[in-house]
Amino acid sequence: MRATPDIRIARNVQQWAQDVATYIHALSEQAIRSHGRFLIALSGGSTPKTLFQTLATPEWKGRFKWDKILFLFGDERCVPPDHPDSNFGMARATLFQPLKIHSDHIFRMKGEYESPRAAAQEYEDQLRTVTRCPAPNLPTIDLVLLGIGEDGHTASLFPGTTALEEQSSVVTVGHAPTGVPTRITLTLGVLNRAAVVLFLVTGAGKATMVRRVIQPETDADRSLPAARVAPESGQLIWMLDQAAGAQLK
Ligand code: 6PG
Repeated sequence: MRATPDIRIARNVQQWAQDVATYIHALSEQAIRSHGRFLIALSGGSTPKTLFQTLATPEWKGRFKWDKILFLFGDERCVPPDHPDSNFGMARATLFQPLKIHSDHIFRMKGEYESPRAAAQEYEDQLRTVTRCPAPNLPTIDLVLLGIGEDGHTASLFPGTTALEEQSSVVTVGHAPTGVPTRITLTLGVLNRAAVVLFLVTGAGKATMVRRVIQPETDADRSLPAARVAPESGQLIWMLDQAAGAQLK
């Protein structure tokens, strides 16, 4: 049974970041209590930066059991890790380095590989090893953070692409119409196996897409990549600031 989305709207971005940190902290404590660790897949783009910076503040850094948390990525641009467009590069600068996260707790998609397909296959193998989940089963990640693009893409699953329809692999090669063209991305199957999917969206620029995905009115709305994220047995949560949620009825 698909969960109905739980929508939470914060007054502003500062409050949003505190609310998200509070929620992720509670989830991490629950996961660590129940199975000794917390597996989180980070989203990319610019939105998570404020959250990562908040998690690295003195107020938050001392509260998490970082040694029990393993960091995955939902997607990565096919650029080297020190490229300004690298999702890993942003997370390293704002989260991993300030918190001194050990490299063996970070699973990076190798955007710099000559062959994106080889990078996708390597990441799938790693993900299956970390989750102790052999093919053809779908691995379960405790928390998947996702963003949404103004075209309704999420992770690097863009409208009308083969990556969006990929059923057999849990990691594949995505293609973006703008920005870095080639990406590595988790596929819908593993996103929908997550225990919790948390969409993090801020800013007025996303308000229309947020309304179209959360309150769809047409088949086009319902077929948007972000609208196809519907965890089979997990929770679906949206944490928005007021600007991003402004068009919700
Ligand atoms: C990426 C992301 C992508 C992102 C959205 C929103 O690698 O770009 O994974 O899905 O979440 O494009 O990006 P912004 O947060 O920059 O608006």
